Amino acid sequence: MALLEVEGVDVRFGGIHALRQADLAVERGTVTGLIGPNGAGKTTMFNVICGLQPLHRGRVVLDGRDLGNLRPHRRARLGIARTFQRLEIFGSLTVRENILAAAEVRRRWARDRSNPRAVTDAVLALVGLAPLAARRADTLPTGQARLVELGRALATRPALLLLDEPSSGLDEHESDELGDLLVRLAMAGMGILLVEHDMDLVMRVCSCISVLDFGAVLATGSPEQIRADDRVRAAYLGTEGAPEDGPVDGPVDRGDPPGTDAGTADGDTLRPGRAETADVLA
Ligand SMILES: Nc1ncnc2c1ncn2[C@@H]1O[C@H](COP(=O)(O)OP(=O)(O)OP(=O)(O)O)[C@@H](O)[C@H]1O
Ligand SMILES: [Mg+2]
Repeated sequence: MALLEVEGVDVRFGGIHALRQADLAVERGTVTGLIGPNGAGKTTMFNVICGLQPLHRGRVVLDGRDLGNLRPHRRARLGIARTFQRLEIFGSLTVRENILAAAEVRRRWARDRSNPRAVTDAVLALVGLAPLAARRADTLPTGQARLVELGRALATRPALLLLDEPSSGLDEHESDELGDLLVRLAMAGMGILLVEHDMDLVMRVCSCISVLDFGAVLATGSPEQIRADDRVRAAYLGTEGAPEDGPVDGPVDRGDPPGTDAGTADGDTLRPGRAETADVLA
């Protein structure tokens, strides 16, 4: 049984069908990719898994347990941690304090006797932020602030880690290091679900990739299988219309207006456009 199993999940926002009968699995000790064009439903899937978004149908099962209507903090105690597409850190605290806050919270409910300060030191070293430990978080560039958020998630010692575009704002070298860290975490037994627009990173670190398009899972397979899948490439190029049972119940926001291929601004970073992504997939 996989660490995480998402089965037949449906989410609607008024007329928008953000997830349609979506299935997903994350195995222990692996990095699983979740990719798809803007507005495909990736962040909504994260919100469903961590309990921020109620679902209309389907279920989320962690380690064999149906999470039902469990609130986000209860899911965190069961071992789910995440980062946010739009960074969520405590700007007025230092890097160390941000991570320590999570380690302290964990100590309140964890059964082991881990020392929050020792956990914080270990996490700072792991994410490479030890030299910046005393810096106020809001003085950091986006890339390093994302590492603070990753560190905070790691300080809860999660079994399942959900990362929503963690490389956005990182330079190439930093992205490579992030990829190495994700592989190491997976080798230590963690299950990681990675939403990412950097296809080179996805293809390098993921053993399995699911592709969402218009809220439905279009394909699931190895990086090689996903690269070779014409439907995936077509979805990124926008040459394929809506799925057959398509968005008849309302428009789906795909970010870019049809016919354009401008990268999308996210904070102070620019995402690759769809054609650029399709090139990497080719
Ligand atoms: N709270 C909400 N209320 C209404 N519509 C929403 C809400 N959240 C998401 N949506 C819509 O649901 C669809 C899926 O959005 P979601 O943010 O999950 O996409 P995404 O794959 O994460 O996109 P991106 O790559 O741009 O981050 C989009 O059409 C979006 O506009
Ligand atoms: Mg998103």
